[in-house]
Amino acid sequence: MAAPTRARLAGEGHPETDVWAYNNTVPGPIVRLRQGEPARIIVENHLDQDTTVHWHGIRLPNAMDGVPGLTQPPIKPGESFTYEFTPPDAGTFWYHPHANSLEQLGRGLAGAIIVEERETVPVDRDLLWLLADWRLTSGGEIASGFGNRMEAAMSGRVGNTVTLSGQVSEEEPIRAGERIRLRLVNGSLARVMALRFEGHRPVIVAIDGQPCDPHEPEGGRILLGPAMRIDVALDMQGEPGRRYRVIDDFYDGLSYWVTQLAYGEKPPIREHPPDAPLSLLRNPLAEPDLANADRHELTLQGGMMGGGAMTGMGGMMGGMMGMGGGAAWAINGMSMTGDGHAGMEPALTFQRGHSVVLVLRNETAWWHPMHFHGHSFRVLSRNGVRVPHRQWQDTVLMAPRDAVEVAFVADNPGDWMLHCHVIDHQMAGMMTVLRVA
Ligand code: C2O
Ligand code: CU
Repeated sequence: MAAPTRARLAGEGHPETDVWAYNNTVPGPIVRLRQGEPARIIVENHLDQDTTVHWHGIRLPNAMDGVPGLTQPPIKPGESFTYEFTPPDAGTFWYHPHANSLEQLGRGLAGAIIVEERETVPVDRDLLWLLADWRLTSGGEIASGFGNRMEAAMSGRVGNTVTLSGQVSEEEPIRAGERIRLRLVNGSLARVMALRFEGHRPVIVAIDGQPCDPHEPEGGRILLGPAMRIDVALDMQGEPGRRYRVIDDFYDGLSYWVTQLAYGEKPPIREHPPDAPLSLLRNPLAEPDLANADRHELTLQGGMMGGGAMTGMGGMMGGMMGMGGGAAWAINGMSMTGDGHAGMEPALTFQRGHSVVLVLRNETAWWHPMHFHGHSFRVLSRNGVRVPHRQWQDTVLMAPRDAVEVAFVADNPGDWMLHCHVIDHQMAGMMTVLRVA
């Protein structure tokens, strides 16, 4: 159920905030599903505007994907919609609206999904942190001004308050010696995060729900773009009684800590970390045949440049398909704005069952987490350099000027969105439709 309510985001002793929430909690309840078992979720709309729910990263039938106009009619106020699907992959996913997304997500509509493995995973604790970024006024209310055009042409709506599963966090209790599977979800509209765990060595075991070769992040920083999920294994080898900060230092000069790992006084539950690294079973994804794949290219264009002048917009205005003002971004010269559309001609059509290599070229001066619905893709290379683990993802974070090659089997029929998950960028034109026919 999506409805307005109030939440204490800054913690006890701070004012409450008017939010929009699923089942009256921010974030919404963790939806727990089982791999390969049918799920049925009824969404009631108690907002005063249309909504839908997108089950981000889950490979499901097109009609259940939650894109208004494209895959279903919007859920009107007072109406409901039943989503039914069987998640093929175990892992960490999330759900959020796909209608008036900037405001609905920005006011609190988001929640995590855990699809449980068939076998139990050997950890002492399974934790989930849904990190969300809010722009609050000094009075503790959500600042209005969603869809500011300047912002939309730059970094997007980055806020001023980061919550951990619904509250600003001072500390998270830790037992010395335990092994934790920590599921990180970036539910922000626009904030990219780079997380460091003081005194600890997190090992990445899954990205966007898909298990990968366990590896330590480059430079010890976990880069987490909006909509991305990263599961890490953490062996808590710190000292009892001590605190260790979890720092986000993505934006130069603006580092802050997300929380502190607060060790209790009890002695470690084990002296040494378990010998074997945590390793998860792979999901049943079809392996793309790279030698025979169809190659396509998508170029990301637009945005405000350093000097403040619009560039890269030259040949683009003509291709705006009459969507007019508000477009600041484009993909291959076309700006699809908003959340979803009926009757869109797809930018690319893939033959069902074919392997596809897609080159994403960021010609802009900004970061973009690019998300493709209905599929996971292998990230093959970045700027011509092979990516060591070639992991599966559904959202790939692109730095300014990056060129990234991804590959997948187009095995899920339908019209699927591909868009930037900085929601202002999506709404302002960085979105397109790809068809699997
Ligand atoms: Cu989470 Cu269309 O996105
Ligand atoms: Cu973007």
